[in-house]
Parts: sequence; structure tokens; C-alpha cells
Amino acid sequence: MKVTVVGAGNVGATCAQAVAEKGIVREVVLLDIKEGLAEGKSLDLWQTAPVNYYDTRLVGSTNDYAKTADSEVVVITSGVPRKPGMSRDDLISINAGIVKTVTENVVKYSPNAKIIIVSNPLDVMTYCAYVAANLPKNQVFGMAGILDTARYRAFLAEELDVNPKDIQALLMGGHGDTMVPLPRYTTVSGIPVTELIDADKLDAIIERTKVGGGEIVKLLGTSAWYAPGAAAAQMVEAIVLDQKRIFPVCAYLEGEYGLDKIYVGVPVKLGKNGIEQIIEVKLNDEEKALLDASAVAVKEVMTVLDDMKLFE
Ligand code: NAI
Ligand code: 2OP
Repeated sequence: MKVTVVGAGNVGATCAQAVAEKGIVREVVLLDIKEGLAEGKSLDLWQTAPVNYYDTRLVGSTNDYAKTADSEVVVITSGVPRKPGMSRDDLISINAGIVKTVTENVVKYSPNAKIIIVSNPLDVMTYCAYVAANLPKNQVFGMAGILDTARYRAFLAEELDVNPKDIQALLMGGHGDTMVPLPRYTTVSGIPVTELIDADKLDAIIERTKVGGGEIVKLLGTSAWYAPGAAAAQMVEAIVLDQKRIFPVCAYLEGEYGLDKIYVGVPVKLGKNGIEQIIEVKLNDEEKALLDASAVAVKEVMTVLDDMKLFE
């Protein structure tokens, strides 16, 4: 079985490494438009195999999509990341064209692939890939919710001084500052988090989570890659092993949660067919209002994509 990662930059290379180290597929193809970058990183990564005890082959490609043929899963990370002061939405003018072209090339060689978009602005780039791919919606989706909940869970684990493995959480909405962490669906080994933490501390963690990407951009001058790469790899694993994991994923909604023709983060079941089910949890009025506001923010960026007239 083969997995392709497009974009051999920070997130792409980290994702390729994480997938390879899981030992769940025969081959990981890393592709980039920059001459020699994917080949160099693949070679370096492959040379970690004898040290880290895995046997997944890593193959690099400079824009030769023939090498990606018949991939089971393709992760698209190509595009520019944020610099300090930029929002994810500022990236659309460059990244939309890249995501469109890359997706068309991917589908030409792997029409059955499940395609995971990582490039930002995430929700709208996933929609852009869906239109470009012309594939069923269960095959095209985006990674953000696993990363955003990981940040939320990590902050909670630190505050509560508990093991991060024991924190289960749900977060919905777009991958932006309007994302909606859901304390009512957050537990520590089954114990509602609200029983373990003061309301003001929980609020502070929720606010920090919403701007968690920006916090790292300020520190590094570019966006995060370790947690994003690991999160995308976890989605790859759920698909290739048909694990039926329940994750927050950027999925195409057609009526679910009262939202239509929009990609936003919702809980889904992820297995060999990609998104196998969209799970509709009950939201109270306040949570639903936050989700609606997040969807409005995503729709505004969709308008920017429409105005680019890429698909005419
Ligand atoms: P990076 O700059 O390190 O890597 C991007 C790579 O894409 C570069 O190597 C570049 O040569 C390549 N590329 C550009 N155009 C291409 C094309 N047409 N075909 C193939 N490769 C091409 O950036 P980084 O940090 O890896 O971030 C990648 C994207 O992922 C950004 O848009 C970033 O905002 C986004 N991101 C999304 C996250 C999420 O949660 N969804 C989290 C972190 C980053
Ligand atoms: C992140 O959340 C920038 O989307 C990227 O780290």
C-alpha cells in the first residue's frame, strides 16, 4: 500500500516521517515542486529506518506524479505557511491555485485515493480540492480538528497535571479563531472536565486553544509542523488500517448541523472509505450559535475563493 504526501516542507516531511515510522504502509512518496527537496528529505528519512526500526520505503519526487500512482491516501500540504501578523485567510491567493493544480494531478494518478488537505486556509482549501477533484465527498476532507483538540488537550493536561492520553475532547467549526472547543464534550477518563477545573481557567484554556496556531507563529516566525504532521499521520493510519476512529475532521456538510454546502470541522468516523459517517451530536443554543458564527467566517473566505474564478 502506498501513501503520498505532497509538499516536502515542514508539515509534509514530518507527516511522511510519522507515517513511515508507524510501519503501516509499504511506501511513502514525498513530492514537492522544488527540485531535489523531496528526494533529499526522503533519502535522509529512509536512512533513519535502520535506527528507528521500520521498513516503510520513502521515495522522493520532484513534481513527477507518476510516482504517486495508485496511492491509497494522499496528504496535501503544499502551499505557503503564515508569517507573523498574517491570518490563515491571507494565504488564499497563493494557496488556492497550488491546491487546485496539485489535486488535479493527484486524482489523475490515484482516482480512488482518500485526500487529506492540510494547506491553509484549511476549510476553504478543502472545498477547493473537493471541486478540483470531482470525487465523492467521503474521499476529500481536511485536517485541523485533531491538531486543535491536541492543543486543547495538551493545555488541559498541563493545567490539571494529568496524563494527556486521558483527556478526550471535541472541537468543531472552522480552523480559525472562531473554532468551537466544547467543554460539555470534554472529559478526563470519563469525568466531565468542568468538575476538575475552575470555569475561568477553562475559559482561558479555550481562548488559548483558539489562537494556538498564532502563538507558535509568533515564537517561530512560521507555523507549527510537529503536531500538524502527527495529526495528519493519525488520520492516514485510521484510513489504511480501517480503524473507524472518531475524530473532528473538516467535512463537507449538506444539511448536517443545519449547515449546507460548506466544509467545517465536525466529528466523523474515519475508516477505509474515508469519512464513513458524520456524527451529529446535540448542541445547546450557545454552542450552535458559536458553530454558526464559525461557519459564517468560513463562508466569507469561500467568497474570496469564488471571486478568484479559478473554476471557470
Ligand atoms: P513549508 O513552506 O515548510 O512547505 C510547503 C511546501 O510546499 C514547500 O516545500 C513548497 O516547495 C511546496 N510547494 C509549493 N507549491 C507546490 C506545488 N505546486 N506542488 C508541490 N509542492 C509545492 O510550509 P509548511 O509549514 O509545511 O505548511 C504547509 C501548509 O500547511 C501551509 O499552508 C500551512 O499554513 C498549512 N498548515 C495547516 C495546518 C492545519 O492544521 N491544517 C497546520 C500547519 C500548517
Ligand atoms: C496551525 O494551526 C497555522 O494552521 C496552522 O498551526
